[in-house]
Amino acid sequence: KPPVERFTLRKLAAKYRRGERITMVTAYDYPSAVHVDLAGVDVCLVGDSAAMVVHGHDTTLPITLEEMLSHFRAVARGASRPLLIGDLPFGSYERDPAQAIETATRIMKEGGMDAVKARSLEGGSPARVRAARALVDAGVAVMGHVGLTPQSISVLGGFRPQGRSHDEAADIVERALALQDAGCFSGAFFVLECVPAAVAAATTAALRVPTIGIGAGGACSGQVLVYHDLLGFTQHPHHAAVTPKFCKRYANVGEVITGALAAFREEVENGSFPSVAFSPYELREGDAARFA
Ligand code: KIV
Ligand code: NA
Repeated sequence: KPPVERFTLRKLAAKYRRGERITMVTAYDYPSAVHVDLAGVDVCLVGDSAAMVVHGHDTTLPITLEEMLSHFRAVARGASRPLLIGDLPFGSYERDPAQAIETATRIMKEGGMDAVKARSLEGGSPARVRAARALVDAGVAVMGHVGLTPQSISVLGGFRPQGRSHDEAADIVERALALQDAGCFSGAFFVLECVPAAVAAATTAALRVPTIGIGAGGACSGQVLVYHDLLGFTQHPHHAAVTPKFCKRYANVGEVITGALAAFREEVENGSFPSVAFSPYELREGDAARFA
């Protein structure tokens, strides 16, 4: 097998400069990482959305650093080409820059990620800018995240689009610029989640680093979707209710899976599985007669 070349931050910057769109999809374990890699997607995000789509929580807040580290390691084993970005989970970086550096270091060294992203590394608060700058100073490539930031869900008062008024829109552009100036420009970039397309376009135009959008229209430098949402993976009624409006389903994998599982159950119950074709092991010649 020829060695696979990693899609590095340098390649990402070059793709951005050429005006080509950047692709990003989440993954949480070995098989999803293999799929994202085989599909030729540029960036694989091990997001704290794992809390919701893998662990079944209602928000992203409950997932721990230890749980995330387990997801990082599994994804790093499965994806060799995509750039790997790991989310800093809620409560693992907010106290002070030292805590942020300690956590980011573990995500890279123990988790095998190339860069980190945090939901609330937003430019608005000086503490967040300091944290982003400290990470970049420590040699960590940082992806910012502006717009809807689910880790701030209790402050925002629920999952709702951000930046719909003029003042909120101006604030998003300002936060993105502050993050860029904090050093996130060195190869890192921004996820614009759930903001009007016009605000995402203005932010993209104002920055000299790429923006990756989700629910933010087509003017961003690239697009990201959550693996399970994109694939139509989860059929649980609760999850159907929270699958966002902006998410296009490219498949109905959940239906395929439950269909296959139900077929297995039926065939075992009615005795048609395993048939002779799936019962390949026989006694050694000579022993068959003695055993019978
Ligand atoms: O956790 C996640 O999956 C994310 C994406 C929605 C950008 O942060
Ligand atoms: Na996330």
